[in-house]
Formats: sequence, C-alpha cells, structure tokens
Amino acid sequence: MIGHFPLSAVLCALSLLLGAQSHMMINYPGSHGWNLVTNGTVADTDGLSMGVAPGTNETVYPYGMQWQFPCGGLPITQNRTNWPVTGGPLAVQPGLQARHSEAMMWVNLGLGTVPANYSLIMVPVFRITGPSNEEYHDGFCLSHVPLPQGVTVNPGDNATIQVIETAKQGASLYTCVDITFVDSSQTPSLDSIGCTNSSSIGFSTVSWEDNSSWAWYRSGQTIGLGLGLGLPLVIAVAVLSYFLWKARKQIKTHKRLSG
Ligand SMILES: *[C@@H]1O[C@H](CO)[C@@H](O)[C@H](O)[C@H]1NC(C)=O
Ligand SMILES: *[C@@H]1O[C@H](CO)[C@@H](O)[C@H](O)[C@H]1NC(C)=O
Ligand SMILES: *[C@@H]1O[C@H](CO)[C@@H](O)[C@H](O)[C@H]1NC(C)=O
Ligand SMILES: *[C@@H]1O[C@H](CO)[C@@H](O)[C@H](O)[C@H]1NC(C)=O
Ligand SMILES: *[C@@H]1O[C@H](CO)[C@@H](O)[C@H](O)[C@H]1NC(C)=O
Ligand SMILES: *[C@@H]1O[C@H](CO)[C@@H](O)[C@H](O)[C@H]1NC(C)=O
Ligand SMILES: *[C@@H]1O[C@H](CO)[C@@H](O)[C@H](O)[C@H]1NC(C)=O
Repeated sequence: MIGHFPLSAVLCALSLLLGAQSHMMINYPGSHGWNLVTNGTVADTDGLSMGVAPGTNETVYPYGMQWQFPCGGLPITQNRTNWPVTGGPLAVQPGLQARHSEAMMWVNLGLGTVPANYSLIMVPVFRITGPSNEEYHDGFCLSHVPLPQGVTVNPGDNATIQVIETAKQGASLYTCVDITFVDSSQTPSLDSIGCTNSSSIGFSTVSWEDNSSWAWYRSGQTIGLGLGLGLPLVIAVAVLSYFLWKARKQIKTHKRLSG
C-alpha cells in the first residue's frame, strides 16, 4: 500500500497536469458538464479516441474527451437552461488548452430533447485569434446568437446548442449545452451573465472566396484539367486527321488509277 502511494501520487499529478491541458468551455448558457479530461494511453485503446483501460471497466480518452462528436463525450442532460425563442447570448472560453492562438468556430443547433442531428447552423464559421498559443482563460461572448434561418420554435421546446472549435490541424473539439426555449421577454441582461469579450481575442470572418491561398491548387487544377482533357483531345484530333488525310489520299489514288 505504502509502496503504491508514490506511483498513484505521480499518476494523480499526471492526470491533473493532463486535465489542465483542457480545451474549451461554454460559460453561458452552460454545458453538459466537465469534459476536459484526458486519461488512459493510446496503447490502451490501440489508437482509438476512446476505449476501456485493460483489466478495468473504466472508459478512457487518451486524446481527450472533447474530440467525440457531437457533444464531447457527454450525453444530453436533464438540467436545461432557459434560452429565448428569438435567440440569445453565448459565452465561450476557447483557449483552455494550448495551441489555440487561432481557431475556427461554429455554433449549431440540434432540435428536440435528444437531437437527431446538429445540421442547423446558428453562426457560420468564424475565425478567432487568441492572446497566445499557450493555455489562456480569456473568453468571448456573442451577445445575440439568432436562430437559424427558417427555424421557428415555441416556448417549452427543447434543443441543444453545439459549439465546435477546430484545432489548427483541422480536428474538431465539441461541446454542447441543453436548452429549453422561453419567451423572448426572459432574455437575460448581458451584465447578469457576464457577457463580455476579452480584448485579447480577435475575430475575423472566413471567406470561401479568398482565392489567394488557393492559387496553387487552382492552377494545379487547371493544368490537371488541361492535361486530363486537352491532351487526349489533341491526340484524338491528330489521329483522326491522319486517318482522314490517308483516306483522302487513297481515294485520290483510287480515282487516278480508275480514271
Ligand atoms: C448540468 O449538470 C451537470 C452535472 O451536475 C453540471 O456539470 C453542468 O454544469 C450542468 N449544466 C447546466 C447547464 O446547468
Ligand atoms: C467489469 O464488469 C463486469 C460486468 O459488470 C464484471 O463482471 C467485472 O468483474 C468487471 N471487471 C472489473 C475489472 O471491474
Ligand atoms: C477517464 O475519464 C472519464 C471521464 O471523466 C471517466 O469516466 C473515467 O472513469 C476515467 N477513466 C479512468 C481510468 O480513470
Ligand atoms: C424537455 O426536456 C425535459 C427534460 O430535460 C423534459 O422533461 C421535457 O418533457 C422536454 N420537453 C419537451 C417538449 O419534450
Ligand atoms: C435533422 O433532424 C431534423 C429533426 O430534428 C430533421 O427534420 C432533418 O431532416 C434532419 N436533417 C438531416 C440533414 O439529417
Ligand atoms: C464580441 O465580439 C463579437 C464579434 O465582433 C460581437 O458579435 C459581440 O457582440 C461582442 N460581444 C459583446 C458583449 O460586445
Ligand atoms: C475570387 O475570385 C472571384 C472570381 O474568380 C472574384 O469574383 C472574387 O472577387 C475573388 N475574391 C477575392 C477575395 O479575391
């Protein structure tokens, strides 16, 4: 027992350390709970993002829980937050893990008590820049996240808001909060929920029309298309012309001989 103590202390310290390497958190309207854990090893799971530690019945998440679609490894809860039918505020801390000096964010909606999907986009993708590439606690708050276009809900309806943050390499972190829609007169004041933007967080839009960074791809595609379509066409025309020319020559010869 005493012999085991240092090991478990080390493991505990290690897990705290890993736990501190957390991801993002929805501060308002809340969240499914704490899903910032990283535990187990990739060897335990043969490289899967979740598994059961050998010799135990304990689930482990060697890469971290928040990589699990759709809500970062946590199920729908019973404790829903009231949120206005016309849309409301959303406060997020995006940098509770290192390497989020920049990130892409999405906010999506899943309708129903247990949503069948999260296909309704509330806030189209936007880019944020953080104060550093280390873990930071600064946050942002979108004062009014509207309902997706064409979606109307009634007081009493349930839904889940999903926030996605992509890591620089494109892998996505997920976290969610369950809501019940209420009349828009129940919109909380921004002060009462601490809805503020840290000045260290920058926002920019993500344009699908920014051609510059894709120039290499486009020209590659054009050349590819040119070679792929153009070359065979040129060859086909050349071969056909040759046979036509030969055929005409034969006809002429034939005419001369018979004439
Ligand atoms: C719901 O309950 C869980 C577990 O107690 C808690 O971690 C989470 O923060 C709660 N969420 C809200 C929105 O109250
Ligand atoms: C795992 O769960 C099964 C079924 O509940 C049980 O029989 C077994 O003893 C458990 N194993 C451990 C290591 O806890
Ligand atoms: C890993 O973390 C998950 C989520 O907190 C927990 O349910 C599980 O028991 C942990 N696994 C181990 C082996 O501690
Ligand atoms: C909303 O969810 C709660 C549980 O959190 C449930 O009791 C209630 O019946 C649900 N409402 C509707 C309209 O399904
Ligand atoms: C998403 O779920 C809704 C029900 O909430 C359903 O009407 C819709 O067809 C689903 N959309 C997709 C793309 O699966
Ligand atoms: C924070 O900045 C975003 C992006 O500019 C803006 O939409 C939002 O309203 C700001 N929040 C507050 C509380 O001013
Ligand atoms: C990208 O190209 C399109 C057409 O090729 C052009 O209309 C658009 O202005 C370009 N966008 C940028 C950001 O250069």
